[in-house]
Amino acid sequence: MCGIVGIVGHRPVVPQLLEGLERLEYRGYDSSGLACLQEGRIACLRAEGKLKNLVEKSARFPLSGTVGIGHTRWATHGRASERNAHPHISGKVALVHNGIIENFVVLREELSAKGYQFASDTDTEIVAHLVSDFLQEGQAPLQALQAALRRLKGAFALCLLVEGEEDVLFAARQGPPLVVGMGRGENYVGSDVVALAPFTRQITYLEDGDCAVVGRDFVAIYDQSGAPVERKPTQAAASFLVSRGDHRHFMHKEMVEQPEVLGRTLARYVDLNSGRIKHHDLDWMKYHRVSFSSCGTAFYATLVARYWFERFARLSVDNDVASEFRYREPSLGTDTLAMFVSQSGETADTLAAMRYCRSVGCDTAALVNVEQSTMAREADAVFATLAGPEIGVASTKAFTAQLVTLAALALDAASQRGQIDEAREKAFVQQLVEVPRFLNETLRLDAQIEILCHSLMNARHALYLGRGTSYPIALEGALKLKELSYIHAEGYAAGELKHGPIALIDDTMPMIAVAPSDRWLDKMVSNMQEVVSRGGHLILITDAQGAAKCGFAANSTVIMPDVPEFIAPIIYALPMQLIAYHTALLLGTDVDQPRNLAKSVTVE
Ligand code: M6R
Repeated sequence: MCGIVGIVGHRPVVPQLLEGLERLEYRGYDSSGLACLQEGRIACLRAEGKLKNLVEKSARFPLSGTVGIGHTRWATHGRASERNAHPHISGKVALVHNGIIENFVVLREELSAKGYQFASDTDTEIVAHLVSDFLQEGQAPLQALQAALRRLKGAFALCLLVEGEEDVLFAARQGPPLVVGMGRGENYVGSDVVALAPFTRQITYLEDGDCAVVGRDFVAIYDQSGAPVERKPTQAAASFLVSRGDHRHFMHKEMVEQPEVLGRTLARYVDLNSGRIKHHDLDWMKYHRVSFSSCGTAFYATLVARYWFERFARLSVDNDVASEFRYREPSLGTDTLAMFVSQSGETADTLAAMRYCRSVGCDTAALVNVEQSTMAREADAVFATLAGPEIGVASTKAFTAQLVTLAALALDAASQRGQIDEAREKAFVQQLVEVPRFLNETLRLDAQIEILCHSLMNARHALYLGRGTSYPIALEGALKLKELSYIHAEGYAAGELKHGPIALIDDTMPMIAVAPSDRWLDKMVSNMQEVVSRGGHLILITDAQGAAKCGFAANSTVIMPDVPEFIAPIIYALPMQLIAYHTALLLGTDVDQPRNLAKSVTVE
């Protein structure tokens, strides 16, 4: 969601604020702003649209000052406009915010009755007014902030500066993550480690309910009760300092690095010497059921995992979209392992589902890409996907890294539960080890895939079909196309086509069939015939055997390497990504930062 950066520096702070914001832009990019204390007074710049507009503005209206805050916004309350961009100012207070203040209507009425004027449509502005109000009552800045926090309901992270307090910033966390970075003679506040990576690797994660006063050479943290508290600093990984390299987009870099990334992930879960799965500290005999909760692409990873866990480990599996999970009040016993899959480890809906499970005493496991994330810190067991920072808003390498990690865990469960013998385990591990090679082969189809996208770019709607483990890949393909090219796309289980969606088929409707030659191929062929006989435009993603069976019916066929059924969903995810990427490029959309989206969704 929104990105926050704050710096208490010893040099003019605006260039660093802009650098931090550039690294945070993936969290939200509909407007941005910064404020610093200039000769003791708040000076502020804000701009609608991408960060480059703020950069241009700050070149035209340079600000000085060694203490400052910056923000990049993903709109919740109030449309994307300069007037709603942060920082918001009230009296001596300038404030940036990530999250949602749920009781803002009541507070807005209360503050209006006291005479406060509102210059924006945001929930953020009421926090600035609240703090300002407590300051005017004579409270010191930290106490004013703490008093304001006691009035707020919702999930939020805040950073603020106060006129008259030249040497400090104030920060607070209640929900979305916030970190404090320690440098030499200057300290920092950031929404995540990525923002602070150019400045420091010494990071302290604020806990829920924490407030911090950040000076140039000190950091004081207070817990929810207001008592001073120590939070242990950690050393952030050097890999957070990511660059796009020679690639035109982060998404392109992240797609092509998948063979290497998945090799690294596999090395964590597979013992290459023995050819077996490395056992982790999870007693799979204890469980009869796995309950997966996640969102978006991560949800589709869990849908693939369901086939693996049920078939190989004989565990029953529930898959929930995390935002709905709590509403059905599932009965969760001690024989259920609740697993939460998330690239960021911060997604508010997934985190809420995890906290629900913890509250009812269920064992929890987090499968995350960010090892220091809130989910990783709160779960009973953690499995890292090791994809490295993913900056493109559309998930690519994080998805396939989730898949290989889930595949390895399913084999671990199957082996521990005596459902597969050593020979079978080794055969499956060998297939996993070949994933990077197959991905490299698939990357060579890039030019061919780009050509077929010319037939897709003029479509208004598209259907993706798959069966078995290709069904979730069809769902993921449709999501990728939607979010990158803004073409409306839906994924369906191929057998479901005749129960309704077939009514949509005509010669303007492209249908992308995800059809490796697996045990479901013959039935897929029948479904494809149903489409073609109604004039549908068929794009077939298959292998040589599949092409021989049904290539004649297709308008375009991509012939994939011949891969074992077990790992097919991992390999077939890549053409889904490439199709969406090239179609988006042809249409001229912003592939790294598609409209309306944000990378880390920290509001419910
Ligand atoms: O960080 P998470 O994996 O929890 O994020 C979940 C979704 O928001 C994310 O996968 C989203 O659907 C992506 N934009 C998909 O490309």
